[in-house]
Amino acid sequence: MERLKGLILSGGTGTRLRPITYTSAKQLVPVANKPVLYYGIEALAAAGIDEIGIIISPETGGEIRKAAGDGDRFGVSITYIEQEAPLGLAHAVLTGEPFLGESPFVMYLGDNLLRDGVTELVSTFRSEEPDALILLTPVNDPENYGVAELDGSNRVARLVEKPQNPSSNLALVGVYMFTPSVFDAARAIEPSGRGELEITDAIQHLVDGGQRVDPHIVHGWWKDTGQVQDMLEANHLILDDLEERIDGELIDSRVEGRVVVEPGARLERATVRGPAIIGADAVLQDAYIGPYTAIGPSVRIESAEVEYSIVLEGSSIRDLEGRIEASLVGKNVAISHSPAMPRAYRFVVGDNAEIEIL
Ligand code: TTP
Repeated sequence: MERLKGLILSGGTGTRLRPITYTSAKQLVPVANKPVLYYGIEALAAAGIDEIGIIISPETGGEIRKAAGDGDRFGVSITYIEQEAPLGLAHAVLTGEPFLGESPFVMYLGDNLLRDGVTELVSTFRSEEPDALILLTPVNDPENYGVAELDGSNRVARLVEKPQNPSSNLALVGVYMFTPSVFDAARAIEPSGRGELEITDAIQHLVDGGQRVDPHIVHGWWKDTGQVQDMLEANHLILDDLEERIDGELIDSRVEGRVVVEPGARLERATVRGPAIIGADAVLQDAYIGPYTAIGPSVRIESAEVEYSIVLEGSSIRDLEGRIEASLVGKNVAISHSPAMPRAYRFVVGDNAEIEIL
């Protein structure tokens, strides 16, 4: 088989992650202090794919280019491809056609995380040589997903978007393998009710035209980080595999369990209960950080408690009586408090906000 290329979809509008995505691309929101997009690039690199095209939008493309660069540091070469508007996943595929040419390719949704990466999938695709291969995972609520029905010989027979009466519990995961036949399929379909060229319709077109579409069932966890709750769950899953490392400074402080304290971070009279990560140059003073929390670089937490949350770079949280839980706090946010005392707080705060609780 020819060399495989990679296509990572990092355009889109990210409406479901507002207000965070008002100021930054959702694929750059960090999970365990690393942008979601990097996990995808690393997964492709690990599968031996070193030519990667990244679909970007005019609004957030500049920021993504700056973050991922030419790919050198991942050991790959990255080409950026601008999609003029988020007109659907199959439209993104067509936008990538000049880059992909005649190569078979892996298409990876830039806001998705797969515990076990794509190596196994890529090798199955190489050895079996189907026309397309789609990643599926069993879910409890198939009505919320694109779902695949298989035929007697274990091929994909039908794809249904959010079925009301699902006849299968196999949901489409955000990774697909295609041969160039997908371009004709994407050209043949019409936009759906929501005005997008749907990848499910393009794949159905392949099946209807007699092409071979194989399923590949994922067993390790998979997460689409499109919403705040998913982002927090992804953070939880990644932190679960964390290896302890303390490079910062601990003064009268205690860390328990799997905790990473990055260089330049300073803990004074602080307790960190892992799994948790404390970013470079962060300062924790008289603070408690609970399990499944990612504290970004240069964050300051003073006289406050944070648990099961993501706090992004440059933010400060000060003098809170209760505990911050299940929260996503944007970059450079300042949260402070004078007296009074609810027991717990839950925040989803966009970048640069200032919140004073009176
Ligand atoms: P989605 O999460 O389906 O779409 P979205 O980014 O527009 O988000 P929301 O529903 O919250 O508004 O997209 C999955 C991935 O594919 C994501 O990384 C964005 C990317 N994408 C494109 O690159 N081009 C597109 O036309 C679309 C629809 C998505």
